[in-house]
Amino acid sequence: MHTYASLDDLSAQDRDLAHAALAAAAHAYAPYSGYAVGAALRTRSGVVYRGCNVENAAYGVVLCAEVGALAAANVEGAGAAVQVIAVTGRLLAAEAPRSAAVVTPCGRCRQLLFEASQRAHDDIRVLCCNHDLSRIEVTSIAALLPAGFGPASLGMT
Ligand code: THU
Repeated sequence: MHTYASLDDLSAQDRDLAHAALAAAAHAYAPYSGYAVGAALRTRSGVVYRGCNVENAAYGVVLCAEVGALAAANVEGAGAAVQVIAVTGRLLAAEAPRSAAVVTPCGRCRQLLFEASQRAHDDIRVLCCNHDLSRIEVTSIAALLPAGFGPASLGMT
């Protein structure tokens, strides 16, 4: 289920989350792709954890922004309480086209979010935002990764 929204359509909490993702993107280390990504997730208790992409001269070693946010939540014991995540990204080059395209989590991050959703016993909403939050696609991990493989597949829930 995908719906397009503007910031004004979101709840105040979700608006704050999108802005937190935008702020996180400012700390991205993305000299190779030139694409800065920020992610911010909120847990059941309302705490926000952020992440940004961290690239590496060995290109394949990149850490996605979602990975940082999920790791931050897990280290605080909140890995099973993720309710919603916002992701935003932008091309860093000054001459880069500024499109309305929103960032959608990569396949690996969908798998990580799927695990978090099964741990939470609930779907996780995903707010896919463009570079300036003027366009937001509201979706969920169940929609982004249908029939995913997770703990339930191993009889663990
Ligand atoms: N990236 C993320 O951090 N999250 C996503 O959901 C999409 C891609 C990063 C990885 C890499 O540093 C850059 O964006 C270009 O792929």
